[in-house]
Amino acid sequence: MSAVIVVHGGAWAIPDELAQASVDGVKSAACQGFSVLKGGGSALDAVEAAVRMMEDNTVFNAGHGATLNNNGDVELDAIIMDGKTLACGAVSSVKNIANPVSLARAVMDKTSHVMLTGSGANQFAESMGVETVPTDALVTEYERKEWEKHKTYVNGVMEDFNAQWAHDTVGAVALDCTGNVACATSTGGIRNKKIGRVGDSPVIGSGGYADNFSGAVSCTGHGESILKVTLARLIVSHIEQGKSVSDASQLSLQYMGERVHGAGGSIVVSPSGQWAATFTTERMAWAAAQQDELWYGLEPSQRNKEHFSQ
Ligand code: GLY
Repeated sequence: MSAVIVVHGGAWAIPDELAQASVDGVKSAACQGFSVLKGGGSALDAVEAAVRMMEDNTVFNAGHGATLNNNGDVELDAIIMDGKTLACGAVSSVKNIANPVSLARAVMDKTSHVMLTGSGANQFAESMGVETVPTDALVTEYERKEWEKHKTYVNGVMEDFNAQWAHDTVGAVALDCTGNVACATSTGGIRNKKIGRVGDSPVIGSGGYADNFSGAVSCTGHGESILKVTLARLIVSHIEQGKSVSDASQLSLQYMGERVHGAGGSIVVSPSGQWAATFTTERMAWAAAQQDELWYGLEPSQRNKEHFSQ
């Protein structure tokens, strides 16, 4: 079985000043996840490692560098899912946590629940000894300035929807050498969102889904639209009906655009190692590592390839 990992750094109108850093960030995260797979690690460990790296990278809207809600605070959502057992863990509206994907993993591994939210999730983090950080440590100067510019949710969404998406989400999907798939997604959500707003990212079947019988998906884009069409599960349904991962992604994103006027993106890997990175926004930074090749792109038709030296 040929292991593969695909990562994204969010589908939105990435401005030129963030373009190179976004591409560099996804390439590094794909390499990080792929080194886990090449070392015999599981798909689950690989997607967690890749997403943690992007949560630590301030160019992305997750962990450090997350967008701020309408109170000027960070509230983070994340999910992780194991395609072998359908085990899943998620957290929503958590604060002071640098790596929500690992807290989601702890929910999956250490509780009988699927999602913990808000103060309960933070209490669980404390009981697990998960490291917390001061809230301000997660806030970048770039985000504070953007937040000041987009003071209201309505203005923020309309401007972002039409021209500049609100710096959206990171994710990873992987297939390991034993044939298991997994997905992980992490986000700060939409800039100027209402306090307590939860988007698609931590919701099973919307921000992510993984099933060894069909494939693993991580989504990005307008959370409310993704929730309405359960985008990750929609893509998986098309795969179950015999569509390729690429066609399944394109059909589902097209449907979301037509049905609820939502834009976004997805990364997908199948149990046979087919993969796709697809989006209907202006740009999405993505990278994929398989065998000795590292693929990456930013613009809709861009597919660059480098020799992967690990
Ligand atoms: N896609 C991330 C969000 O809307 O919260």
